[in-house]
Parts: sequence; structure tokens; C-alpha cells
Amino acid sequence: MAKLNVNGRVIEFEVEDDTPLLWALREQLGLTGTKYGCGVAQCGACTVHVDGAAVRSCSMPVSAFDETQKIVTIEGLSPDSSHPIQQAWLALDVPQCGFCQSGMIMAAAALLAATPRPTEAQIREEVTNICRCGTYNRVIAGIQRAAGVSTAG
Ligand code: FES
Ligand code: FES
Repeated sequence: MAKLNVNGRVIEFEVEDDTPLLWALREQLGLTGTKYGCGVAQCGACTVHVDGAAVRSCSMPVSAFDETQKIVTIEGLSPDSSHPIQQAWLALDVPQCGFCQSGMIMAAAALLAATPRPTEAQIREEVTNICRCGTYNRVIAGIQRAAGVSTAG
């Protein structure tokens, strides 16, 4: 059994203790916005927030969490895509295929919450998610736009 606080709701459900958080979110809770890329904490496609910090959910067992930790997935980032990162992503048309972008957005949102006006160097250091389509320059521009550092686009 697990009892998690996900997107503001406490949910109790049957799951093996060693199931990665990613699969509990996707398969038990139906929150499929969070993606599976590598499964070994390298790509960031599975990034969610735990108490505001970016966490790669493929590599954390569900038993590491309980209802005292606030887990937020891409579905819970904002009720209407109004988060500044989502707005900047729309304005700059950041995604290409889109597969990595839930994780990118969650990593970017966690960065901005901790560092409201990050430098490009800070963005490159903190947002280490992999994008096979190579959207890195637009990701950086999107974060800078959301931070009010740049109005590019
Ligand atoms: S799927 Fe989790 S880091 Fe790649
Ligand atoms: S937009 Fe295609 S993998 Fe990033």
C-alpha cells in the first residue's frame, strides 16, 4: 500500500513498495503526463516536484514517500496552464516532439521557484534534462522569458 499526496489530494492505493514513483503515478494513478525515458535518472523525462524540488521519479521507490510530502506532477503545476513557464513555452513554441517537455517544464519551474532570476549558466547547471530534439536554446530562452530576464520571442 502507498498513501501519497499528489497534486493536492491524498490518495491511498495498492502498489509494491519497490515500484518506482513514476510507475505508481502513471499506472496506478493514471497521471501519464510524466514520461519514461531512461529509467536510470539520466534524462529527466520523469521529473516531478516533491516539496517543491525537482525529483527524477523513475529512480525513487514509492515507499520513499508518504502523505506528508507534496508531490506535484505536470498535471498539477497549474489548473489552466497559467504557470509562467507554461506561458513562456507557449509564447516561444519551445517543444518539438514534446516527449521530454513535461520533465523540462517541471525542472524549469523548480529552478525558478528556487532561483527567480537565474543566469544562463545557472540554467545550464540546474536543468540537465535531455532533449533528443535539441530544444535546449528555446528551453533557456523560455526560462529567461518566464523569469523576466528576457522577452525574446
Ligand atoms: S526516465 Fe527518469 S531520468 Fe530518465
Ligand atoms: S522535444 Fe522531442 S525530445 Fe525534447
